[in-house]
Amino acid sequence: MSLRKVTVSKLIEKKQKGEKIVTITSYDYSFAKIIDNTGIDLILVGDSLSMVMLGYKNTLSVTMDEMIHHTKTVSRGVTNALVVGDMPFLSYKISRKDAIYNAGRFIQEGGAEAVKVEGGTEICSTIDSIINADIQVMGHLGLTPQAIYKFGGFLVQGRTVEAAKKLIIDAINLQKTGVFSIVLESIPWQIAKLITGILDIPTIGIGAGPHCDGQILVIHDMLGIFTEFKPKFLKYFGKLGEEIIKALRLYQTEVKEGKYPDQEHSYEYPLNDFKEIKKWMESIDLDVESEKSLNKVK
Ligand code: KIV
Repeated sequence: MSLRKVTVSKLIEKKQKGEKIVTITSYDYSFAKIIDNTGIDLILVGDSLSMVMLGYKNTLSVTMDEMIHHTKTVSRGVTNALVVGDMPFLSYKISRKDAIYNAGRFIQEGGAEAVKVEGGTEICSTIDSIINADIQVMGHLGLTPQAIYKFGGFLVQGRTVEAAKKLIIDAINLQKTGVFSIVLESIPWQIAKLITGILDIPTIGIGAGPHCDGQILVIHDMLGIFTEFKPKFLKYFGKLGEEIIKALRLYQTEVKEGKYPDQEHSYEYPLNDFKEIKKWMESIDLDVESEKSLNKVK
């Protein structure tokens, strides 16, 4: 194992040393390879792929098979980052047996090293079963997108005193059950800071302010590729969507105007051989020749 290989214990050490943990989502080989080369700690194959890759309106539509397919492609591109597969809607809430089986598929078929599940105290017994099958689990609290219909939309969570108390208890219970880290999504920064302060395991924030132990963003969002929805916490670190449009327009123009491909982007044929081909073409009837070769394969 390379020295740079990120493991669960290295992430916990980072928290102890006060070093920020940088994480991001990815859904395919090429992006995963680029991300891994930048030294990012953890790559989540998020169920956000339902929206940004597959075009569904929320994360509820993506299936286990689709998640496994994308997790495989990411794992092939990653050497150092910890790869975490996001368990999709219903894949871990019907029965513990299903939960262990589906979590196992992420490891065995997908090549992931851990899985992430959404929910608090109510899923601790399920998490316990997955961990007992030697699978590392990451928790996810706050705005858990698989519950948007329960929440009534993509709304900030933990705003009332009761809701904030529940988040704190949930975080403690997840840690007690054995998760190695918890994603805190769309909650007030003060509550995220409190939770981060009382846990030994790292918190990874997304819309949870600056005091979490690490951060995560959806790669298509932060690069400005997926711009249909911009929550308050999202910052565009690039404008790749605009760059892609610019490149495609230039490609269209150059093809239409005959500027591309030019000599520089074409393969050369040896002059003498080319002369021979031309002579051959003048010496035969091409139709007859092509018929002869077709007849041979009939
Ligand atoms: O699905 C996802 O991408 C996520 C992250 C945003 C935490 O769950």
